[in-house]
Amino acid sequence: MTAFDAVDVIRTKRDGGTLSREQIDWVIDAYTRGSVGDEQMAALAMAVFLRGMTRTEIVQWTDAMIRSGERMDFGSIGRPTADKHSTGGVGDKITLPLAPLVASFGVAVPQLSGRGLGHTGGTLDKLESIPGWRADLTNEEILSQLGSGCGAVICAAGAGLAPADKKLYALRDITSTVDCIPLIASSIMSKKIAEGTGSLVLDVKVGSGAFMKDVDSARELARAMVDLGADAGVETVALLTDMSTPLGLTVGNALEVAESVEVLAGGGPADVVELTVALARKMLEMAGRPDADVEEALKDGRAMDVWREMIRQQGGDPDAPLPTSALTHTVVAEGDGVLRTLDALAVGVASWRLGAGRAVKSDPVQAGAGIEIHAKPGDAVRRGQPLLTLHTDDEWRIPRALEALAGGIEIGAEAVAARGVVLDEVVADRG
Ligand code: URA
Repeated sequence: MTAFDAVDVIRTKRDGGTLSREQIDWVIDAYTRGSVGDEQMAALAMAVFLRGMTRTEIVQWTDAMIRSGERMDFGSIGRPTADKHSTGGVGDKITLPLAPLVASFGVAVPQLSGRGLGHTGGTLDKLESIPGWRADLTNEEILSQLGSGCGAVICAAGAGLAPADKKLYALRDITSTVDCIPLIASSIMSKKIAEGTGSLVLDVKVGSGAFMKDVDSARELARAMVDLGADAGVETVALLTDMSTPLGLTVGNALEVAESVEVLAGGGPADVVELTVALARKMLEMAGRPDADVEEALKDGRAMDVWREMIRQQGGDPDAPLPTSALTHTVVAEGDGVLRTLDALAVGVASWRLGAGRAVKSDPVQAGAGIEIHAKPGDAVRRGQPLLTLHTDDEWRIPRALEALAGGIEIGAEAVAARGVVLDEVVADRG
C-alpha cells in the first residue's frame, strides 16, 4: 500500500479537496494499526465534519473500514437474513420485540447491537437487566442460534467487526464529530455490511432526541446509507421516524424490557406497536415474505415463544422478575390543559442522569433506573396529575434529572397537530 503523510491527507480535506482511494485506504489502515495517532485522526474527522465528503469518498471510506476487520457470512444457515438498525433514540426498545417477531416467520435475524452512550439507550444494556442473559457470543454461537428453531440473536458485535469504526467512533464521541452525515453513514454501514445480512431496514430517527433534528437532514443521511447498502449488494430501505418525544411509555433498561414483553404479549403502547409492525413488514417483504401477518404473530404468542427461546439460549431466565430501583419520584402537571411537548432529549438526559445511561464506556448502568411516562403529547391533563415517575437508586440524582426536564414539558390550551411515528421512506436511487 502506498504510504502518505497524515498531514497531507488532513490538509487536503481541510482545504476542501477530495481524498483519493489510496489516501483513504492508507489512513484507515494506518489508524487501525496505530501508526496514525488519535490527534491526527481527530483533525481529519473535524475536517470531514466541516468540509463533507463526496459520494465516492463515502463509499471508499466505508469500504476501507469494512476491510479493517473480518466479514461474517450467514450463507450456511440456509434461510434468508434480515436486519434492522436504528440511528438511536429515547425509549427506542423496538429491536427487542422486532427480532423475535420477524424470526417467527422463519427469517433469521442477526442483531449485532451496542451499548448506550450519552442520552440514547443501548439495546445490550436493556437486555442485560434480564437475570443471566449474556451479550457476548462467539461467531459459532451466533450461527448456531440463528440456524436453530429460534432464529433470532441479539448480541454484542465482536471485536473483529470493523475495528477501524470502533476506534474512530470512540474518538468522534470525545471530539464532537459524531453528528456528521458522511461519518455516521460510513460508521453504521461498515458494520452492517461486514456483518453480512442479506437485507437491511434502517430506522433513521428525526427530532430533538435524534442526531438528525430535521426531516431534510435525516433524509440526506438515509439516502447516503441506502445507497451504500445498494453499492455493496445489501438491499437496504430506510424509514424516517419521529423522535421528538420518547417512544412508548418507558425509558430505561428494565422498564423498557417490561414494555417490550407487553408488546410481545399482544399489548403495549400504540406507537411502539405501530413502529414494530412497520419495520417487521418491511424486513419480511425484503426477505421474500410479503404476506406475513405480523399483527397476528404478536397476538397469538408466536413472537413471544421465539423471544423466550432467544433469552434462554443466551443464558437468561425469561420468567425472572426484572430489577427495580430503590427510589421513585413523581413529576406532576403544573396546570390544566393539553400536553403539547414532552421533549425526547430532555427525557433522555433525565433518564441518563437517573443512572440508566453512562457518561463513559466503563461506567456501570442501573438496571432499574429510568422514567415511566403517564401522559403523551396530545393528552388532556389536570393540574397535579402525575406526568412522569422517575426511578433511581440514588437520591442525589433526582434534582439533576428534574433540572434536565425543565423546559422539556409544555402544557397549553391547544393541542399540537398529531403526526404518526413513520414520517417517510427512502429507497435506493438506481439512477
Ligand atoms: N451509530 C453508529 O454506529 N455510528 C454513528 O456514527 C452514529 C450512530
